[in-house]
Amino acid sequence: MNRERGRDEKTPVLWMVVHGVIASAIGIAAGLAIKWFPEQASTQAGPIDHLYDVLIWTSVPVFVTVSIIVLFSVRNFKMRPGEEQLDGPPIHGNTRLEVIWTAIPAVILVVLCSYAWIVLTDIEEARADEMRINVVGQQFAWTFEYPQAGGKPIKSTQLYLPKDRPVRFHVKALDVIHDFWVPAFRMKIDAVPGLETRYRVTPNRLGNYPVVCAELCGLGHSVMRSRTLVVTKAQFNTWLAEQKAPTAAAGGGGDIDGKKLFTDGNGAATACGACHTLADAGSQSQTGPDLDKNLAGKDAEFIKQGIVAPDTRVAPGFQKGIMPKNYGDTLSAEELDALVKYLGEVAGK
Ligand code: CUA
Repeated sequence: MNRERGRDEKTPVLWMVVHGVIASAIGIAAGLAIKWFPEQASTQAGPIDHLYDVLIWTSVPVFVTVSIIVLFSVRNFKMRPGEEQLDGPPIHGNTRLEVIWTAIPAVILVVLCSYAWIVLTDIEEARADEMRINVVGQQFAWTFEYPQAGGKPIKSTQLYLPKDRPVRFHVKALDVIHDFWVPAFRMKIDAVPGLETRYRVTPNRLGNYPVVCAELCGLGHSVMRSRTLVVTKAQFNTWLAEQKAPTAAAGGGGDIDGKKLFTDGNGAATACGACHTLADAGSQSQTGPDLDKNLAGKDAEFIKQGIVAPDTRVAPGFQKGIMPKNYGDTLSAEELDALVKYLGEVAGK
């Protein structure tokens, strides 16, 4: 290299290697020290984080090697004054170099892909005693369905999971592509209209973790979030029993508290107060229209339509398609009536 120029006679390979090793060591140490992910909450998380560490170990030296060669070349082979018209020596490739720079990356890729494939197959192995949960994504809400033997599935907008019980998620989308992601579990997969995708998870840590939509799916993408509650087996069974008999929990007599529905939702329907301002309920969110302004003086039919068919009429300054369209399913007829009655009484007061 560069012999004609009579400069840099000594190949600075040693210099490059020494600096490469130092830079790689710093890069790897920094990469491993940074906490990239939230707390692990599934048996899948450990192997995935380890896979990530292995990728740091390999990709940092590759990056450093490429960068050092580029910097070295820029410094040593740059055009000098008076060389503007020169075309450089007439060389035609270097077979040995080309074989080396093809073979090494190929080997690295094959090894990493094989390792990743083994890890991913291993953590998604079928387990005995798996619980199936259907995950349905739609603009802009998640619904989790727990199939019940010989009955309707139990639906919830929060994901309840018993600790240490393997779960198999069957993921679907009703409108556009979403992506079902629980960062604490490290698992994520697209929810695609017309397809059913799946993954397995075994939660192994009690707690409350975010569910995130990881695919840009429209204006409400950033609010398409929910929570995973990993609870004890006993707590899970209690919750399941409550969902099976929701009217019993309403305090008897069939009197449904519209205000409580507004503030807390019902387990299947997301709370209205999460997005709407309503003075009587003390909610101040501005994701959706201010209900004190928009529902004051409106009749029951108007309010009901706003809940079950939100896109029919959209308040000025707001867009169609943000509010979930599933309230007709997630609220019972009695709950819907109670909510409409409550809103009719308090909006604007
Ligand atoms: Cu659904 Cu982003």
